[in-house]
Amino acid sequence: TGSQRHVFFVFGASGDLAKKKIYPTLWWLYRDGFIPENTCFIGYARSELTVEKIFQNAAKYMKVQDDEREKYEQFIKINSYVHGSYDKAEDFERLNKETNKISGQATAHRFFYLALPPSVYGNVSEMISKHCRPESPGFLRLIVEKPFGKDLESSNKLSEHLNKFYSEEELYRIDHYLGKEMVQNIIVLRFSNKIFSRVWNRDSIAAVNIIFKEDIGTQGRGGYFDEFGIIRDVIQNHLMQILSIVAMEKPRSTTGEDIRDEKVKVLRCIAPIKIEDVVIGQYIGDKDSTDPERQKGYLDDDGVPKDSRTPTYAQVVLFINNERWDGVPFILRAGKALNEKKAEIRIQFRDVPGGMFDEELTEHGVKGTLARDELVIRVQPNEAIYLKVNTKRPGEMGFSIEGTELDLTYNERYQGVKLPDAYERLILDVFTGSKINFVRSDELQEAWRIVDPILAEIDKKKVPVIPYKFGAVGLREAFAGAAMHGYIYTGTY
Ligand code: BG6
Repeated sequence: TGSQRHVFFVFGASGDLAKKKIYPTLWWLYRDGFIPENTCFIGYARSELTVEKIFQNAAKYMKVQDDEREKYEQFIKINSYVHGSYDKAEDFERLNKETNKISGQATAHRFFYLALPPSVYGNVSEMISKHCRPESPGFLRLIVEKPFGKDLESSNKLSEHLNKFYSEEELYRIDHYLGKEMVQNIIVLRFSNKIFSRVWNRDSIAAVNIIFKEDIGTQGRGGYFDEFGIIRDVIQNHLMQILSIVAMEKPRSTTGEDIRDEKVKVLRCIAPIKIEDVVIGQYIGDKDSTDPERQKGYLDDDGVPKDSRTPTYAQVVLFINNERWDGVPFILRAGKALNEKKAEIRIQFRDVPGGMFDEELTEHGVKGTLARDELVIRVQPNEAIYLKVNTKRPGEMGFSIEGTELDLTYNERYQGVKLPDAYERLILDVFTGSKINFVRSDELQEAWRIVDPILAEIDKKKVPVIPYKFGAVGLREAFAGAAMHGYIYTGTY
């Protein structure tokens, strides 16, 4: 048919992100029938590559089943590759001509995915806008990945640059945590259940803990990571995004604009983090480990300067100055090279007043220590929502009390349901034009405003990082800080 065509560009087609994430994601979307008909894909990078080579490099991430071979070959056939510089107008003019030829339609919608190092964003985005816009009524969408700058100032500069060449409408800023099932579910959980709406505030909630843990180190990414550190890499974006969804007021509707209006409103109520509410650490090798990866500390990563003070672990505490949340600590904690991979949100409720059970034994065998209720949303792995509650110990005479869970563990309740990868959802959103799961420029700016002063202070005052061993549960100093703010940990760290 002569219907509307789409061209999806992968800039940085030879790079790591393209190979490990973008190409596999495009294939899975194609395989599952989500890519509109009449779509073609064009890779662009500086090296003289071929489509065959790109797919060879990405082969082990594609997970192609035997019975999918034919489809896979069809997918490869609608891919092309163009090589050229990231800053010369003539290369982009040539790309434009090639694109018209390949797609056969100058008005095809064009989606540009920049899987590129930040140093070339500026030039590439300018060149694309000047030389590779489709003819009307075709439209353009530009997908950008973090880092969106290094601090408030550089982020604003990048935004100004992008705003010169693109409307906000055209910009899709990825925060892949927004593509995760359980992050999206927070909105449904909060606003479609009467039971939560009455207690979702300072009267009932004592503290909120948002936790990100990884059991791997920087693994050769140290060169990139060292310039940023864990606060910029994970807290400013992923954890702050989760916080804004947990804490926002009820949006007027499920549209991207209404939801993001509420997210940014709650971020505006947060004062910059204070340095006394920050704990930072850096991992060292565990000499006793049998795993050579774990014997290596952060400073042993090639590309990391031997005297680096970049944190690989951090905890910050935020307060939201509005009627709903005044005084409730939001404790954001993130670390690499810990004992496990886990991301979760823990909403801890206040103590039960009245002391009716003070004389009863609890599960700890201690009188008068009723555990607090806690709602846990486990983002990954093994997605779950569970509510920790107290119950009468089954079968016992009298009121012995023990903690238990009302437990919705996905792989038990929803056996066989496949949860799509975050990138699959987000790239699909780009095709359909849904902005719910992308970061708006004002959100980005607010998130930087909140972390900016401590980042500067950590640098200026040369705040030392507390060492922790690869595989540690976390930093004792961080747990103590959380406890000081009133978060009582009820499980094992
Ligand atoms: C990225 C960070 O944004 O998220 C990485 O730059 C981190 O340092 C990654 O490893 C974690 O993503 P996920 O989806 O594996 O939790």
